Amino acid sequence: MDTSGLAVVFTQMCGDIWVDDSGGSLHGHLSARLLDDDNSGEIGAFSGPDAVTFESTGVLARLVDHAHSTWLSRGARFHSVWSPLEEFRAWTSLGYEPTALSLEREWGTWTSSQSPEGVTVRVARTDDLLALQDLDAEIDRAHHDAVDPSSRSRLVDLLEDPEVTYLVAEHEHRVIGQIAAWSLGALVGYFPETLHLSDLAVAPPFRRRGVAALLIREVVRQHSEDTRVVETRSRVINSGASALWANLGFETAFVRLERTLR
Ligand SMILES: CC(C)(COP(=O)(O)OP(=O)(O)OC[C@H]1O[C@@H](n2cnc3c(N)ncnc32)[C@H](O)[C@@H]1OP(=O)(O)O)[C@@H](O)C(=O)NCCC(=O)NCCS
Repeated sequence: MDTSGLAVVFTQMCGDIWVDDSGGSLHGHLSARLLDDDNSGEIGAFSGPDAVTFESTGVLARLVDHAHSTWLSRGARFHSVWSPLEEFRAWTSLGYEPTALSLEREWGTWTSSQSPEGVTVRVARTDDLLALQDLDAEIDRAHHDAVDPSSRSRLVDLLEDPEVTYLVAEHEHRVIGQIAAWSLGALVGYFPETLHLSDLAVAPPFRRRGVAALLIREVVRQHSEDTRVVETRSRVINSGASALWANLGFETAFVRLERTLR
């Protein structure tokens, strides 16, 4: 086999991989892909959970030291990593800040609660677009992000995607909440039978009445045959959303952390 050719392909797919092989044995590795960040437009170095292993915080510190200067010289402004919950303190000790959580729960049991009065759930339609854009802006607001000007085309993509279940909650013919969900079973690196929840939002006057819980319950019910685990993402800054997911029994699996490169 032509291993040098293989190494080139591997590097293109994963970026450089740093290893700590001091003393002749392997103590850890670190890699990242350099990509444009959707929010800031800056280049960032992104590492998934399988892009890093380390035996100790000292090993991680050495790997990070070497990698940071190379990423910086290639134009990256920050490093973002998804860390398993049990390892995230090693990152914070190196100056990384937690920014988001990946949360999950096994579905199995759901203690059903009462639906909020007068609220019904149906599949979203293209004529809901204006209301969906308002709800999308609520998510940006909760994250202290500027309202996304490309929100309309992203929502149209979601509405038209046959793999996505997009539901809205309605009250007196007014759209007051939304959720989108799709199965991750077919994607590499995920457990089969995993349903991803996204784009959850409820209009401010209708909050704390159980509308979000109703939308979550309904979208999972529609996927109950092929769902064992339900997962979602939540920003650390979004304390209301964190409280909601905790209330529904979701637990943190991974923490996303970020550090500016300098
Ligand atoms: C987060 C959000 C979707 C919750 O919607 P909601 O309809 O108010 O949630 P529910 O009424 O179903 O809440 C169920 C439980 O979750 C918890 N909860 C929900 N919102 C909470 C908040 N802001 N603060 C504390 N706990 C909260 C409570 O335990 C609540 O039960 P309770 O009201 O009986 O105490 C809504 O606040 C929202 O749209 N926020 C802006 C957009 C956003 O942050 N989306 C989530 C992205 S991950």
